[in-house]
Amino acid sequence: MRQIESIREMQEWSAGQRLAGKRLALVPTMGYLHEGHLSLVDEARRRADLVAMSIFVNPTQFGPNEDFEKYPRDLPRDRALAESRGVDVLFVPAAAEMYPPGDQTAVTVAQLSRGLCGAFRPGHFRGVATVVAKLFLIAQPHVAVFGEKDYQQLKILQRMVRDLHMPVEVVGLPTLREKEGLAMSSRNAYLSEAERMEALNISRAIAAARDAAQSGERRTAALRERALAVLAEGKNTVVQYLEIVDAGTLEPAEVLDRPARLILAVYLNGKRLIDNGPL
Ligand code: PAF
Repeated sequence: MRQIESIREMQEWSAGQRLAGKRLALVPTMGYLHEGHLSLVDEARRRADLVAMSIFVNPTQFGPNEDFEKYPRDLPRDRALAESRGVDVLFVPAAAEMYPPGDQTAVTVAQLSRGLCGAFRPGHFRGVATVVAKLFLIAQPHVAVFGEKDYQQLKILQRMVRDLHMPVEVVGLPTLREKEGLAMSSRNAYLSEAERMEALNISRAIAAARDAAQSGERRTAALRERALAVLAEGKNTVVQYLEIVDAGTLEPAEVLDRPARLILAVYLNGKRLIDNGPL
């Protein structure tokens, strides 16, 4: 596996491979890899000849009081994991090169960024769309693979490539979960054992709403109540939002008459966790 740090070198590698007729995949990450990321690599490998992974803890997607400084980082471990899973190129740019002094350009996907996490993390999706647009221009992939755990992010990026005519297919893969149901996330590293146990309520809440939907409940207000009741069992859990939305537009859905998604964010002892699932 080759590690590339310079933007120019990454662009040259990609351009050379494209010229040689290779199909390229990119798996963008912020590192601290887990099996969820590695399953994205497997999918990328199925869809392309060569797989690049980026590791970049993107400062512009963190708010002033968020966890940018303490976001878990372990490049040697990530490098070993990426290599063992067959990543061809690990792209690890420096923030100073990604955001050159005086940089003024950003990408905003207006409507889709407004609700859900966007309502509580101003500027977050602008940072995500901007860095992913940069990564696409640098790594020039034919296909990029993301997890559905950040479902709003996935929809925003799919809209971005459509609106900006970027020749990249943005593929989303179902969330990988621990065996008890907790969605895999680098931020799970923040949880104590007791918090992990309480966090299991999150996937249980989604399952409770899904079970009720499968038993015929169509009113999303009732499904929401089911999910909230499960979360209320956790004495350290504070719900930031829990919405049932149209799976494509992310607009609130009142009845289940089309594909919908339950999406939520909670604080568990101040640690923010997100999850979602189809209904
Ligand atoms: O999902 C993530 O890890 C990040 O938001 C991404 C897409 C790598 C952009 O920094």
